[in-house]
Amino acid sequence: MELQRLLRTVNASRMSSIRAVVVGILKIINDPRSTARELVDIIETDPPLAARVLQLVNSAFCAPRQKIADLRQAVIFIGFEPLKELALSQTVCDLFQKPSEIAGYSREAVWRHCVTVAHFAKLIYRREYGLNGSQAYAAGLLHDIGIIVEDQFMHSQFAAALNGLGRHAHDLPAAETSILGYHHGAIGMTLAVDWGFPAELCQGIGYHHEPESAAPEFRQLAATICLANHCAHRIGETYCPPQAVDADDLARRMENLEISANAIDLIAPDVSQALSALAVKGIL
Ligand SMILES: [Fe+2]
Ligand SMILES: [Fe+2]
Repeated sequence: MELQRLLRTVNASRMSSIRAVVVGILKIINDPRSTARELVDIIETDPPLAARVLQLVNSAFCAPRQKIADLRQAVIFIGFEPLKELALSQTVCDLFQKPSEIAGYSREAVWRHCVTVAHFAKLIYRREYGLNGSQAYAAGLLHDIGIIVEDQFMHSQFAAALNGLGRHAHDLPAAETSILGYHHGAIGMTLAVDWGFPAELCQGIGYHHEPESAAPEFRQLAATICLANHCAHRIGETYCPPQAVDADDLARRMENLEISANAIDLIAPDVSQALSALAVKGIL
C-alpha cells in the first residue's frame, strides 16, 4: 500500500490498543475513586492512545501557542473529563483480540518494548544532558508506532517481513523496505507530521534506525531513541524472534552521543524497576 494511502486508511479508522490497556482504561474510568494520575499512567504505556492525546492537543481544537510533545503537559492542557472521553473511545480491533500467529512476535511485547525505549530515552536525557526528558519519553513510546500500524493495517506483509528477518532485530527496516518500499520509521513520521506533532518528535520517530538522516538540530533525539532501542533489545525487551544485538553497533552509537560505556549499565536497573512497577499495577 502506498504511504499516503496508508495514512488515509489509518486516519479513517482508529489505531488499536491491546486488550490489557482497554481493560485498564475501563477499570479506571468506572471507578469513582480513580485519579487523573492513574489515567496518565495508562496513557504513558499505550502508544496509540498517547498518539491521540498528542494529536488532540496539537490540533486547532486546543491550539497551543507552541506545539506540545510532553504527554503530562498535554493531559493538563486537555483536562480530565475530555481525556476520559478520549480514553473511553480507545478500542481493540478484532485482529488484536487474538494472540498473534507470527512466531516469536507478540503485541504485549511490542507495548513493553515501546515503554522500555521510552524509559531508556528519558533517563539518558536526564543523566547525560540534564534535561527532564519528557519529549524523549514521548519519542521513545511512539518510535515503533509504525509497527503497530503495519500489524493492524497490513498484516500479511508485516508477517512476511518479520518471518523473513535476518539474525538481528535491526534488520527489520530492510525487510520491510524490500516488501513495502518503506519501513516503520517512515510510517511513524508520516503519521506524526500529519497529526501536527512537533518537528523534533516527528524526526525522533522517523529516524530512530538512521539518526544520521535527521536534521542536525534534531539528531540528538533521533540518536538517543536509536540507542534506547538498542538497549531495550539488549535487555530482552524485544518483539522480534532473533534477539541478537550488534555490540559494535551499540558501542558506536554511544560514542557518537559521547555517552560513557557504563552509562547504560547505570540506567538499566532504573528502567527494569519502572517496568516492574507497571507490572505490579497490572498495566503491562
Ligand atoms: Fe524500530
Ligand atoms: Fe524499537
